[in-house]
Amino acid sequence: MESIGRRKFMKSVAGATALGASMAPASGNPGSPPSAGDPARTGLILLTTWQWGVKANERAAEVFQGGGSLLDAVEKGINVIEDDPAVMTVGYGGVPNADGIVSLDAAIMDGTRHRAGSICDLHMIKNPISVARQVIEKTSHTTMAGEGAFLFALKLGFKPEQLLTPESLKVWMKWKANPNRKTFWLKSEKNHDTIGMVGTDGKGHMVAGCSTSGLAFKIPGRIADSSLVGCGVYADDNAGAASATGDGDLMTNYCTSVSIVQAMARGASPQEACEDLLRHMVKSDPRNKDGQCAVIAMNPRGEMGNASMNQGFRLKYSTWKDGKNQLQEGPVVY
Ligand code: GLY
Repeated sequence: MESIGRRKFMKSVAGATALGASMAPASGNPGSPPSAGDPARTGLILLTTWQWGVKANERAAEVFQGGGSLLDAVEKGINVIEDDPAVMTVGYGGVPNADGIVSLDAAIMDGTRHRAGSICDLHMIKNPISVARQVIEKTSHTTMAGEGAFLFALKLGFKPEQLLTPESLKVWMKWKANPNRKTFWLKSEKNHDTIGMVGTDGKGHMVAGCSTSGLAFKIPGRIADSSLVGCGVYADDNAGAASATGDGDLMTNYCTSVSIVQAMARGASPQEACEDLLRHMVKSDPRNKDGQCAVIAMNPRGEMGNASMNQGFRLKYSTWKDGKNQLQEGPVVY
């Protein structure tokens, strides 16, 4: 891994503004579907957290190549993982909170309109990323939570359902029955984590989205980075897009995604921006070296970066580029 110490990291804001100008999106409203078969549709680049990113990328690419917008692509790609009961940290089948209720967080951001929608602590609706998308499309709000978010979803036709599966109920009952249970953190392979996806259409338009059931056995009412704009996701066509996965309580305190995007705006590469954020976290508190933190980023040219804090929480990520879907393992900073 190249040392960040050697890089020319801090470039001027003026430089970043110039980058933004040259990377302005080629065409109008990113929410309106362009025509299918457009040859420029091959420019899609996606970067998605964890091994399930492969399936999510595949669906996102299918939607985009079929004429959907980049927002459609990111939303529908993430839906695949929300629908999958085998992924017990996202959507349907997610491990519940301490009361045994599955509580979902998600956010999606359109880098052209500079507009995000987010949903916190949503119960009984398995696709919070789609509800978050509707916050953008149907309201002038940005973030909706709890009961209000649930009623909003019902009004839009989302169907309520039990999100606990026999498997996730079993996990909760085992935890609940243990008098020595660890509260609010279960250190197991299955507890990580968020699906985060960042993408570009190849013409400088950027979108970021993420979705999670959050920390297993969290205190009811807890929300963390995934549904907080600037923490779990951020996208700005002038600079890039980022997302985060891991300990959302920790990362919320560093406004992870917007910090990374701002570093790219100042001239950092996506890789530099990711690593620098994790180093900054450790500089401000050395205990963060042991934190479960991983981040992904992309700039408007489609260059990608990612980093994990330590070997114990090493990110696998999936990239879609030039029509190829690849699963890779990311660099560890400490
Ligand atoms: N990063 C997901 C969470 O902590 O809720």
